[in-house]
Formats: sequence, structure tokens, C-alpha cells
Amino acid sequence: MGVPLFDTSTPVAALRGELRAAVERVLDSERYILGPEVSAFESEFASYCGARHAVGVANGTDAITIALRAMGVGPGDEVVVPSFTFYASAEAIPPTGATPVFCDVDPHTFCATADTVRAVLSPRTKAVIAVHLFGNLAPVTEIEALGVPVLEDAAQAAGSLGADGQRPGALGTAATFSFFPSKNLSCFGDGGIITTDDELVAETARTLRFHGSHDKVTYELLGYNSRLDELQAAVLRVQLPHLDAWSDGRRAAARHYERAGLGELVALPQATPGSAPAWHLYVVSHPQVERLEAALAAAGIGHKAYYRTPVHRQAPMLRWGEGIELPGTQQAAREHLAIPISPVLTREQVEQVLAAVRGALSVAASTDGRS
Ligand SMILES: Cc1ncc(COP(=O)(O)O)c(C=O)c1O
Repeated sequence: MGVPLFDTSTPVAALRGELRAAVERVLDSERYILGPEVSAFESEFASYCGARHAVGVANGTDAITIALRAMGVGPGDEVVVPSFTFYASAEAIPPTGATPVFCDVDPHTFCATADTVRAVLSPRTKAVIAVHLFGNLAPVTEIEALGVPVLEDAAQAAGSLGADGQRPGALGTAATFSFFPSKNLSCFGDGGIITTDDELVAETARTLRFHGSHDKVTYELLGYNSRLDELQAAVLRVQLPHLDAWSDGRRAAARHYERAGLGELVALPQATPGSAPAWHLYVVSHPQVERLEAALAAAGIGHKAYYRTPVHRQAPMLRWGEGIELPGTQQAAREHLAIPISPVLTREQVEQVLAAVRGALSVAASTDGRS
């Protein structure tokens, strides 16, 4: 019996009745766009994050573009973004007219630091995207202390906790989330949201998501058709009250790995100071990662190298990324591997993963010894 890389169905199995009822409620209402479910979810999610406003949009990528524009980013500006992230973190910048500027990450936390951001700041820097990668929390306060507004890309960090129990979504000027089906809090399709304490940012984002209009009769901005829809909002409302318990499950799974001694075999992901990540992906590192990949595949254990080619080396990004050396990014890209994590990962499953990793590395050690 193998172990899946993640398990999105077991946690929601107990909620199927409630989910069906929520979908029925929307069908009965015959309101599908920007109705009561979206408004209710926006206020529930804002209060979950500790933010004053939330604006539901169509997905986490649009959320970044719209949030940046609402923060005043436009042509001629630069936006700093780490290169070790999902492509969308950077892809969302050029549609604002601004230029992505790639910064490095700490290969142990997978997050940008104040130092890696400082190294690429310029007078044209208008914002920094702090990606809370894999659920780990980037040091937003330290980055903001450099004097630049921060947009948190919290697509992978719903349920994570910062120092003093603060949540992503209320750490920077604004934050964006994705509700893509594999995420810690997910819907049954695409969905996203922007959170902020700033009234003007919220109001501009609300206008931008609705064709730059308030009434679809007169238009104030060149905007987007990018709304979270009623069905997805209804589904999210059922799940949000369970996010903390699921996040505790993810933290418990990480503790199982630690206590089972995985850290003696591979480098474990390091939580940034003060944070308690709800690990969206549990990503270990090893210089001989291909041996791990082969052994896990042979044992039927889910694994994935998400970002072997960092964003600045992807073809459409070369005009901004060509020639840049980012050593932490390159190390992380070369050595990382996601192994199974979910709110319901058991000790037995952890032992199975560990046995496969141990097997791979003891073969590696004995082969190295012979050569
Ligand atoms: C770090 C990060 N940023 C942005 C996104 C984009 O979200 P979406 O797929 O909802 O557009 C994702 C999700 O896939 C992500 O992981």
C-alpha cells in the first residue's frame, strides 16, 4: 500500500451532506454572481485572517494582479518577487505594466528574507511580493521595515500561524489566497481572495474585479471579469470552520516526520522564526534527491519536485531573469522534493515514507563507499 502525496478527499468526506445542502441553497436562490454567499464568505474570511476587508476573485493569480494594481502598481514600476515559487507569483506582475525583479530565497525556509529583498531594491521598487511558500511564513515585518509595501502571496498558507497567533492575510499591506482544489482551504474549481486593512485598496480591488465598474453601466478603470462565484463561496463557507483543525493535522504530520527521525536522513523544511506553518507541501532537501525520487516511486509513495526550474529561468521570464545568479534558489530548485502531507497523514504512513527514504540513502551510502 502506497502513500498519496496529499489527500484532499478524506478531510471533506464528513462534510458531504453540508456541502450538498450549500449547493442546493445556491441553486434555490438563483443568484450565482456576487450575491449573499460571496458577501458572507468575504466577511467570514476577513475576520478569520484578522483583516478588515476581503474581496473574492476568480483565482489566486488574478488576486495578485488585482491587488498589485489596487496598491498603485503600474507601468514603470518594479515588483520584487522570489524566483523559487509557483510561476503565477511572477506571472501576475507584467499584466499590471510593472517589471518583475527576482530575489533569492533562504534554501532552508524556502522564503525570501529582508537581506535577499534588500539586495534587489531600487528607486523604482513599488512593492514586494512575500510568498509564504509551502505554508512557511515569509518575514513580512522585516521586509516592510525596508520601507516598501508588501503583498503577501498566501496561496499556500491558509491556516498557518505567525508570532503571537497572527495569521497570513493581515501581515502586509494586502494579501492574496488561492482556493485551487489542492490548497489547504479549497473549493471545487478555481477561486481566490484578496485581504487588506486598507479601505482604498479594498475598494479599488472591488471595482477592478467588476470590469472597473460599480454598476456595469459606467466604467472607471480598465478592469477584469474576475469574481469568486456563489457556488464556490458556499462551498468555502462550509469548510472554513474546519481549517484550523485541518491545519493542526498538517502540523501533527510534520511532527511525526520529525519524531520518526527523518531529519537524520534529509534536510527538513525549517519554519521561519515564530511561525507555525500549516505545511501545504512538506518539502525536504537532499543533494542526491534523484535517489529519493527513485526509491519513493518504487515504493508507491507520492512525491514531486515542484520547482526544478526556478521562475527566472522559465522561457517567458528570461527577458527579466537572464544572467541573474540566485544561489539559494538554485540550491532549493536542485535539491527539493515534496513528500506526503495531509491533515490525516498517519504515523504508519510516515513510517512507510521513512523506510523508503532510509532504504534509498543506505543504498546511496554503500554505493558511495564502494566507489
Ligand atoms: C504560491 C502561489 N501563488 C499563486 C498561485 C495562483 O493561484 P491560482 O492557481 O488559484 O491562480 C498559486 C497556486 O497555484 C500558488 O501556489
